Amino acid sequence: MNLQRKPIITGNWKMNQKISEAIELVNGLKRELYDEEGIEIVICPPYTALSELGESLQDSNIQLGAQDLFWESSGAYTGEVSASMLKDVGCRYVIIGHSERRHYLGETNEMVAKKVRRALDEKLIPIVCVGERLEEREEGKTFEVVKDHLANGLSLVKKEEIHEVVIAYEPVWAIGTGKNATAGQAEEVHAFIRKLLGDVFDKTAAARVRIQYGGSVKPENIAELMEEEDVNGALVGGASLTIEGFSQIVKRAHIRVS
Ligand code: 13P
Repeated sequence: MNLQRKPIITGNWKMNQKISEAIELVNGLKRELYDEEGIEIVICPPYTALSELGESLQDSNIQLGAQDLFWESSGAYTGEVSASMLKDVGCRYVIIGHSERRHYLGETNEMVAKKVRRALDEKLIPIVCVGERLEEREEGKTFEVVKDHLANGLSLVKKEEIHEVVIAYEPVWAIGTGKNATAGQAEEVHAFIRKLLGDVFDKTAAARVRIQYGGSVKPENIAELMEEEDVNGALVGGASLTIEGFSQIVKRAHIRVS
């Protein structure tokens, strides 16, 4: 781990937690994590719980993020939510281009690029997801796919902005399968991502970018992953849905910070 980059652990709740459940989970996390410092803690609940949790997280060390946004600022876009609406309820982060959106909802790199642009314009920090499917890894196309996601998904980002973007490397075969990438496999791709960002944007700025690993992160594997130089945090799905799971992940990631 590199201490220049403040580690960031994000919980992606996906399509889970009604408001009452969300409040219970957040109350537990606030209780368990109130004294955690040196690590950024973010939760991304579903849209319906954002407003309530935005209030509950005021003055806490846990920050709020959304799981998506729309690239236009307002207007006739049924079902969509704008960046300014997210800020209005207290969001500071937004996940963009998650593989579930790419695969179930046809989200393209071009859509990702426009969403990233809007997030930056509105001073939301985008967490941009990239990663290969199992068949792509088996065909030796991992780097090609990650490069395509990055080069095209970040095509509207300016050189002076890249250090603000968080990248999440999430190999699709590791998501929700219980089969995480090894620390070595994660580091290999994270190092590739950092080099690519350096080549496309700027080396100094790329050195500041935080790259999260996502895919079956659990309390049992977080410490090993965080030992890697270019693993600067995690994007956690299933294990972020329990107080014990998420708080243990933050604490064990944190142990490696000190
Ligand atoms: P799991 O942690 O459930 O594998 O999900 C990872 C993920 O998709 C986070 O965005």
